[in-house]
Amino acid sequence: MSKIFAKKSLPLLLADASESEKGLKRTLGSGALVALGIGAIIGAGLFSLTGIAAAENAGPAVTISFILAAVGCAFAGLCYAEFASMIPVAGSAYTYSYATMGEFVAWIIGWDLVLEYALGAATVAVSWSRYLLEFLHKFGIHLPQNLVCSPWETLKLSDGTVINGGMFNLPAVIIVILLSLLLIRGTKESATLNNILVILKVAVVLVFIALGWSHIDPANYTPYIPDNTGKYENFGWTGIATGAAVVFFAFIGFDAVSTAAQEAKNPAKGMPIGILGSLVVCTVLYVLFAHVMTGLLNYKLFANDAKPVATAFAKTGYDFLQNGLILAILAGYTSVMLVMLMGQSRVFYSMSRDGLLPKFFSEVHPKFRTPWKTNLFFMVFVSIFAGLVPVSQLGHMVSIGTLFAFVLVCVGVMIMRRTMPDIPRAFKTPLVPVVPILGILVCGYLMYSLPGESWLRLAAWLALGLVIYFTYGIKNSKINDRA
Ligand code: ALA
Repeated sequence: MSKIFAKKSLPLLLADASESEKGLKRTLGSGALVALGIGAIIGAGLFSLTGIAAAENAGPAVTISFILAAVGCAFAGLCYAEFASMIPVAGSAYTYSYATMGEFVAWIIGWDLVLEYALGAATVAVSWSRYLLEFLHKFGIHLPQNLVCSPWETLKLSDGTVINGGMFNLPAVIIVILLSLLLIRGTKESATLNNILVILKVAVVLVFIALGWSHIDPANYTPYIPDNTGKYENFGWTGIATGAAVVFFAFIGFDAVSTAAQEAKNPAKGMPIGILGSLVVCTVLYVLFAHVMTGLLNYKLFANDAKPVATAFAKTGYDFLQNGLILAILAGYTSVMLVMLMGQSRVFYSMSRDGLLPKFFSEVHPKFRTPWKTNLFFMVFVSIFAGLVPVSQLGHMVSIGTLFAFVLVCVGVMIMRRTMPDIPRAFKTPLVPVVPILGILVCGYLMYSLPGESWLRLAAWLALGLVIYFTYGIKNSKINDRA
């Protein structure tokens, strides 16, 4: 039984990393890592959820919701950064918990990260397909209704078309397949495309802020914090807190930087810069973006709007830019999926190298040097979810899974300060244990704000993980052979 608490020693972790230099290539500098973070962060959360959170939860004070969510992420991000600078090995939170809390917790967290990365990619793929549909409709192109919507979902398009459940969401599946194939081709190639996409989507955010600013009507900010309606989640301070849980999705992804530690040129320096830098840049952009959006239109007008950015932008009068805006948003979503799919494959790569998953998942392609079989596996897995599951159910699973991982990372930093006080860290989380404890509280509170059914799904997913661990992982784990 003590085996399940066996920890992977730091020298062993680092030895594994250098051994695998033969495997994954070190190609990413600090700038590319920040781009990787922004690539994973700005996406469906900003472009779809800002309007919903303003209309239903916080009004113009959705800006405060963004700041609250950012604070929770910053606490967790500071903990991630210490780990990543100390254990610069692929696999993110999974690897850190293996070193600090032992194999069993590591397995749970690795298994949990599937919710963040694989289902995160699926969620964004579904939103991507919606913006694509809107775009195609503008040009009179109508795809067969059965092929653009999952069976249990109702889709309302801005031209009035209503689709009541289809067979599956084909565009979402196609984009997942294309990106998975690109990832197999190589990290560098994928990072190059990612950089281009990041430039495009940051440009769209900046253009929106710059052009929208002079069209703000200050009357839209009164009242800035609408009175609570009597329901916890509708406005007032409690509405702002619920809004924070909703827009939390927009921050998911900064931790994906840490999955690429083994491909970073100088991970001790690059990891903290990548994680915290991307978080800071995105927070500033989000608050400005939300400020302009709720200044252009009264928050009530965003209710049930699937493409609030385009609606708000129409107020500026720059109609000719609308199509470009949607295209850039599609590009932005693409980079989120790319980084999520990459992060997922790196986590399973690490788990398989440790023997907790079959060897299949860590086989590196002889020419491209990427974990291509894992990429193919998740191409199918993510496609199934993207094609068949409604987006709201996916989104909540992603948020709860991610928050759970953040909590464990905060706990891990406190444990590591006691168990490994002398190991050099290029970056130290300030004010331990205050920062990790605040991280646990804020993330725990955001988890609490999510619907009860997401808790049940999280429990079911973790239960499945336990079955796999006790029937496979515990028997095949390599830790005791090598420790
Ligand atoms: N943060 C990512 C997004 O908003 C997951 O799309």
